[in-house]
Amino acid sequence: MGTPEEKLRDAAVVVTGAGAGIGAALARSFARQGARVAVNDLDAGAAERVAGEIGGVAVPGDASTVVPDARDALGGTVDIFCANAGIALGGGPEADEDDWARSWDVNVMAHVRAARALLPHWLERGRGRFVATVSAAGLLTMVGAAPYSVTKHAALSFAEWLSLTYRHRGVAVHAVCPQGVRTAMLRGSGRAGDLVLTPDAIEPSEVADAVLAGIAEERFLILPHPRVAEYATARATDRDAWLGAMNRIQQKLER
Ligand SMILES: NC(=O)c1ccc[n+]([C@@H]2O[C@H](COP(=O)([O-])OP(=O)(O)OC[C@H]3O[C@@H](n4cnc5c(N)ncnc54)[C@H](O)[C@@H]3O)[C@@H](O)[C@H]2O)c1
Repeated sequence: MGTPEEKLRDAAVVVTGAGAGIGAALARSFARQGARVAVNDLDAGAAERVAGEIGGVAVPGDASTVVPDARDALGGTVDIFCANAGIALGGGPEADEDDWARSWDVNVMAHVRAARALLPHWLERGRGRFVATVSAAGLLTMVGAAPYSVTKHAALSFAEWLSLTYRHRGVAVHAVCPQGVRTAMLRGSGRAGDLVLTPDAIEPSEVADAVLAGIAEERFLILPHPRVAEYATARATDRDAWLGAMNRIQQKLER
């Protein structure tokens, strides 16, 4: 699939939710590598600002339906699609039906719908790359946030499914699973975020660096916080010990 530089130079890249945070950092990094970037966000002004800054093109609107417009804006092809837009809604089963539905829609179904629109072209030409911004909450589980944890698990599962189904047909898939990243989402994550995520939070640009490294190495799982691999191993090895440790964090939150 070429050298890392060849993969990105002049590549047609779409980043959803790129008006701010991790998406904006991804858009900037791809543009620096010489890619042509379509900047999507629900916030049209934010998409236009980032696109203007990096010499990209703004494609405002919902991440679920962005593929046709982005493909047109990029001259007919999408080489790399970053399904990055996401929402973090907290609570448990008592959370509103609407919060659960919106979480499924943005965190999972937007990825499914984008893949549905992208795959026919990618399979026809034997090449394409899907980068899903998931979360460590998709590999582990975030205290205080069931709609987020459950839908991020589903997003990871969908990315795995895409990878194992299409890798022999030229479609590369990456799942990016950071813990805390200093963005508006983290600032809005309340006490649970303050306790679990903020102490080791990293910058959005560090996530983007990890994504470029993961693409260069053709790695499915991209862990901007390397310790997440240890936590995932501990969870897989002794689920009860891991649940006990997480419950102690939950009890701390309740104090
Ligand atoms: N910040 C963190 O600590 C953290 C950690 C792990 C994973 N993530 C994931 O990273 C991704 C980006 O998060 P962030 O922290 O940059 O968030 P953010 O809230 O700072 O930015 C998200 C952007 O996405 C846009 N957006 C929301 N819904 C959209 C939709 N339906 N269509 C198009 N745009 C939409 C928003 O307008 C916003 O500009 C999310 O998927 C999030 O779950 C974030």
